[in-house]
Parts: sequence; structure tokens; C-alpha cells
Amino acid sequence: MSSKALTQTIVNDHHEMYEYHDKYIRAAGDKATQEMWGRQITWEVATHVVAEEIVVFPLIEKHLGSEGTASTNKHLEQHREIKTLLRHLADFHPSTPQYDQVLEDLMKNLRAHNEEEEAKNLPALEAEMTSEQSLSAAKAFQRKRHFVPTRAHPNSSQSHGGRFETVAAFLEAPWDKLKDQWVPFPTTEMIAVP
Ligand SMILES: [Fe+2]
Ligand SMILES: [Fe+2]
Repeated sequence: MSSKALTQTIVNDHHEMYEYHDKYIRAAGDKATQEMWGRQITWEVATHVVAEEIVVFPLIEKHLGSEGTASTNKHLEQHREIKTLLRHLADFHPSTPQYDQVLEDLMKNLRAHNEEEEAKNLPALEAEMTSEQSLSAAKAFQRKRHFVPTRAHPNSSQSHGGRFETVAAFLEAPWDKLKDQWVPFPTTEMIAVP
């Protein structure tokens, strides 16, 4: 059911990617504003794909068995292409023809990938989960915001206190080992209890 929390959270993210891209295009001629939206798109997409791999793909494999594994393998391959384009984007400066071309390629890849997630993967997963399970997955997914830096340091490749200063450092982090840092945070309900 498309009304479930996890689907809503992921679809919202997809729409944000398109919205930020539109804002980047509309700011043509204004380098500072394009830099800002370029950074916003980069972090939105990077944290989105990693969050899917950590939170959503394991659920698809758990609930949908070998069919789920086949579909996550296909989507992992598509994520690899998206990550390659994200790294490539970092090689150029916003407001240059090279940057704009890589950004176009990235958005084209993303649209096709996102549409497939929304039409096939998410409905299949939600059909196997309760509303509570979907809500809990949506909350785990939203924790990706924790890893977004408040300020980008273009020359730093280090992570500081769980935050990553560059997209390359974030994408190259050994998330299979760092998964435990992502998922177990206190829930809002736990924080509310003194
Ligand atoms: Fe994805
Ligand atoms: Fe997605």
C-alpha cells in the first residue's frame, strides 16, 4: 500500500531530488546559489542511496526471499552507477558545462531508478510488512540526516564525530561495518520518557 510510512518517506525524498534540481536550473547565472543547490542535491542523493542499502534492502531480502535478493542485486548495481556519477560530479564546479552534463546524467539515472522503486520494489515490500514495521523502517531511514555535514569542507576527506565532510568519504565508508552506528538510535518515544 503506497500510503505506508516507509514508501511515503522514500517518495518524498525522490521528489526533493527533483525539486532541488529544478532550483539548480532556475538559478542559472547565479553561481553561489547553484553551488548551494548542487551541494544539497549531492547530499540528498548520497544519503538516500546509502540509507536504502542499510535499511530497505535488508528488509526486501528478509521479506521477499530469493526474489528480493535478485531485485536488491539489480538495484545495488544501479546504485553503483549513481555513486559513480556523484563522485564524478565532485570533480567539477557547479555552473560549468561539465558539471551540468554530469548532473543531467545523474538525474536521468535517478528518475528511471526511483520510478522502478516506487512501482515495483516498495509496493512488494509494503505488502509484506505491517504499518508498525513500515513506520519503524521509515524512522531508521530518516536517521540519514544525522550524517549530513552542516558545512562542507571541500579539501577534507575525514569524518568527524560520525559526520562526513565529503561525499566521497561518506560513500566510501565501510557501511557494512558501520551499520550498527546507523540503526540503533533511541526512538522519539524513548527520548520523551525521562
Ligand atoms: Fe534506490
Ligand atoms: Fe530511492
